[in-house]
This record gives sequence, C-alpha cells and structure tokens, in this order.
Amino acid sequence: MRQSVLLLAMAIVPTMAASAASPDGAAVYDKWCAPCHAPGISHPGTQALKAKYPGEWQGVLRDWKELTPDYVRLTVRQGISVMPHFRKTEISDAELDALARYIARKP
Ligand code: HEC
Repeated sequence: MRQSVLLLAMAIVPTMAASAASPDGAAVYDKWCAPCHAPGISHPGTQALKAKYPGEWQGVLRDWKELTPDYVRLTVRQGISVMPHFRKTEISDAELDALARYIARKP
C-alpha cells in the first residue's frame, strides 16, 4: 500500500514540475516590463530607448528587431542605467526564459 502511494507521488510530481517550468512570457512581460516599456510617452523605458537609439524604431522593447534572448536575460539580471535588475525571487529562471523568447521573437 505504502509503495503504491509513493509510486503515485512520483508520477504526479514531475507533471507539476513540468507545468511550473513553462510560464507565460507575455504575462511576465505585462507584470514586470510593460509598466516601463509599453508604447507611449508615459513609459520611461520606451522614452529612454527612443532617445538612446534614434531612428525609425519608436523605442518599444517588443518591436526591437535586433534584440536576442541572451541579451534580454543579461539586462534583466544586471539592470542597466536607471533600469533595476530583477532577482530570481521576482522573475525565476524559467519565467525569464519564457520572457526572453516572448520579447525577442522575430516577426
Ligand atoms: C522602472 C522602469 C523599467 C522597468 C520595470 C524595466 N525597464 Fe528595461 N529599461 C528601462 C530604462 C529606463 C532603460 C534604458 C536604460 C538606458 O538608458 O540605457 C531600459 C532598457 C532596457 C533594455 C535595453 C538595454 C540597452 O542596451 O539599451 C532592455 C533589453 C530592457 N530594458 C529589458 C527590460 C525587461 C525585459 C524588463 C522586464 C523584466 C524591463 N526592461 C523592465 C526601464 C525599465
């Protein structure tokens, strides 16, 4: 009896871990990045990037074509200039992976 309970637990736990390991990149972006990087004048990240990289691009993070997932990971963990860094207790590694793929997706 005890053995079958253990086997059941072993069967369930990996399933739970797998679903926790695939977070929604769009949701992570909306929570942690959009307050500063959404389009428009009221978003300091967008304004800063528009000034920093002048040209046709309007500074919106998600529209940045050259952005790579690795660079997103680096910037999020280290921060840059006035942008804060984010800890693993705020954005986990799995969430950061999903976020990086979401933002750096190419059209
Ligand atoms: C408190 C506002 C704020 C938040 C929140 C924020 N950023 Fe930023 N971010 C900025 C600002 C301001 C800059 C421009 C920094 C500079 O002047 O170099 C920036 C720049 C960047 C850059 C470009 C760095 C470069 O080389 O120019 C990336 C990539 C970036 N942010 C990603 C993110 C991601 C991903 C998130 C969400 C996890 C996020 N940011 C959240 C304010 C923010």
